[in-house]
Amino acid sequence: MSTEHEATPSHSQPKLSEHVLPGGLFGRLSALDEPLPHSMKRWFWCWGSLPGFFFMIQVTTGIMLAFFYKPAVETAFESVRYITEEVRYGWFIRSIHMWSAQMMIIFVFLHATRVLITGAYRGKGRWLTWMVGFSLLVSTLMFAFTGYTLIYEQLSYWGVTVAANINSYVPIVGPYLADFIRYGTEVGDITVSRMFAFHVFIFPPALCGLIGIHIFCVRKFGVHIPGNENDISIEQQIQKQKGPYHFFPQHALAELVVFLYLGLVTILLAIAFPAQMHDPANPLVTPEHIKPEWYFYATFRWLKLFPAQIGIILLGGLVGVIFCWPFVDRFLRKLSPKVEIGLWASSAAILVILIMTVIEAIA
Ligand code: HEM
Repeated sequence: MSTEHEATPSHSQPKLSEHVLPGGLFGRLSALDEPLPHSMKRWFWCWGSLPGFFFMIQVTTGIMLAFFYKPAVETAFESVRYITEEVRYGWFIRSIHMWSAQMMIIFVFLHATRVLITGAYRGKGRWLTWMVGFSLLVSTLMFAFTGYTLIYEQLSYWGVTVAANINSYVPIVGPYLADFIRYGTEVGDITVSRMFAFHVFIFPPALCGLIGIHIFCVRKFGVHIPGNENDISIEQQIQKQKGPYHFFPQHALAELVVFLYLGLVTILLAIAFPAQMHDPANPLVTPEHIKPEWYFYATFRWLKLFPAQIGIILLGGLVGVIFCWPFVDRFLRKLSPKVEIGLWASSAAILVILIMTVIEAIA
């Protein structure tokens, strides 16, 4: 026989979130309780928040490194050596910063690929989510590049030299752009200051702002339900039976678990493969093979395929097409309603980028 206490209806039992969090705090957090489709439970739907997680690690470890880093030609390399070899746990913080940057880039690429091949940029207003996302991708790459130049070792010195030269081929503004990067004809003290200013004062706030707008767009325009109309009606049936899948606490806790696992992987990578010191920058000795970081391999290979200015113009055109992709895709769908030209073209493009990356890696 049930007592009055036992007979308390199940819907008045405290939710999981109320067990975990004190009531007042839960009240405030319930504003985060966005209803989501159940398709969000798929593991590759966490990839969007991962660049954000690694960005937070970058900011935290970056602040620690900035306590010791000295942005000038004479001091940059030596201060990085000091951090790596003399500061207590300096090698670890630097290695976490390095590996977390790699993770941030990997997951930005994976997230963009997922969004692209599931057609998640389609639907009302989601073109804006895509465009802000693409700006995040470009800013993330620039954020990483400017950080890499700060070490002021041979490859990073020649990397920024080549980058400035490539920029000089941009029609009309090219020479000004190259001059702006270098401040003069050679990479020097002011170049290092500029890279530091970009890496510390410009990209982190820009990324914060863009992430904020991106998340606002995701909430305003909703998330995409993958698949055809049949999948959508299945989703609607599940919603009718079970109600929506909740962002808080279900999805937030699932993401927290993924953060913890990948945080652990980053720590293990930092311990197993710590950041190294290579040869310091020497403007008089050009290295035999100048290569950018792996995330620019495809771009580098592309530029080798054409005469300099044509390569740059075509690259600019491609970047423009990707930025406007939701509209290009809409146009292609009008042109051919039965064949998914957009999805085939984007899948082929991803394959070509992968192949060019591998070719450049083994070249
Ligand atoms: C720092 C970089 C980025 C962060 C922190 C971020 C964050 C997120 C988050 C948390 C979501 C919610 C769903 C999910 O997790 O997949 C999302 C969705 C989305 N993102 Fe990003 N994103 C970033 C970069 C990008 C890039 C590079 C693109 C595309 C070029 C992009 C386009 C989109 C689109 C279209 C959606 C809606 C997806 C859907 O409806 O399923 N984002 N983003």
